Amino acid sequence: MRTLIDNKMQSIYRDFRLNLTRYNVCYLKNLDFTKLMDIDYSNEFIQQYYLLRFYPAYLAEYYLMYSEILEEEKYDNSINILSIGSGCGLDYSAMKLAIRDNGYPNDIYYQGIDKYQWNYIESRDVKFRNICADIKNIDNLKEICKKDIDIIIFPKSIGEINGYSFNKLINLLVEYENYNEKLIILSSERQSFLNHDRNRLKQLNDRFIEYYDLENNLTIYYRTYNVRGINNLIKEFKYPDNIYQYLNNLHFQCLNYNKRKSHCKSPDDRLDRTRPILTAEHIVWDQTTLKLKEV
Ligand SMILES: C[S@@+](CC[C@H](N)C(=O)[O-])C[C@H]1O[C@@H](n2cnc3c(N)ncnc32)[C@H](O)[C@@H]1O
Repeated sequence: MRTLIDNKMQSIYRDFRLNLTRYNVCYLKNLDFTKLMDIDYSNEFIQQYYLLRFYPAYLAEYYLMYSEILEEEKYDNSINILSIGSGCGLDYSAMKLAIRDNGYPNDIYYQGIDKYQWNYIESRDVKFRNICADIKNIDNLKEICKKDIDIIIFPKSIGEINGYSFNKLINLLVEYENYNEKLIILSSERQSFLNHDRNRLKQLNDRFIEYYDLENNLTIYYRTYNVRGINNLIKEFKYPDNIYQYLNNLHFQCLNYNKRKSHCKSPDDRLDRTRPILTAEHIVWDQTTLKLKEV
């Protein structure tokens, strides 16, 4: 995990600094990942900024999530994942790490769907496919998913899909027929949209239980655990020091930054919260386990 994070982050960091000459840092001022806003992830500078802040923390979270699933469930040879709002597919790398530590299954078939073409795609493996498609333009999942699905995952994405597309997605998922007898739906949520995200998941679950029996419905979070840093949970976790220092000081590069007052000319004009996540408080996911009804 440490090497993966370091390699990935150093390359994103290099590209981000190159882009700074083109965009300058004030371009990022109105971006607030804690609000429900339409974020233009098609912009590579925004992708880089997002990944610099969140890649390691989300990789760690998805690793914990998948590790728990692999501990509970037995997947003999392979596991088939459908990731919706997959971004660069970072939950795939998390699953690979979880499999490395769990010992099996031997194979992962991963299908990611995202509205935007992301850079820094996690793999070029033939079993990893990440297609660029807006849910609202998909008519049938059969063309997209070639295997029986074991897991549907929304990696920090369920709340970002707009209402129209989400309703369409529910129908697409419920009408799709190639699931395994046991189906797990995972939604890793954002603290700031918790109720919204949970509502979405409930809407989807309510439709699935027409065909499936509900085995389990769990919420897992680490907020109340006495853990401050993610590295207390995962020893291999390490956010690169040079990038941490850099992001922490990024606001000094704002064109309007006033050294004497220690902020930009207008407080509303500040580049805020540029720090990466290093603590475990953000970790929260819901897991629904379903079993096909006997007829
Ligand atoms: C917060 S990002 C999460 C990205 C990635 N899963 C991660 O963990 O970093 C949410 C993602 O949902 C995608 N998304 C939002 N609406 C979508 C839609 N209608 N169809 C497909 N993807 C969508 C966005 O493009 C974005 O990449």
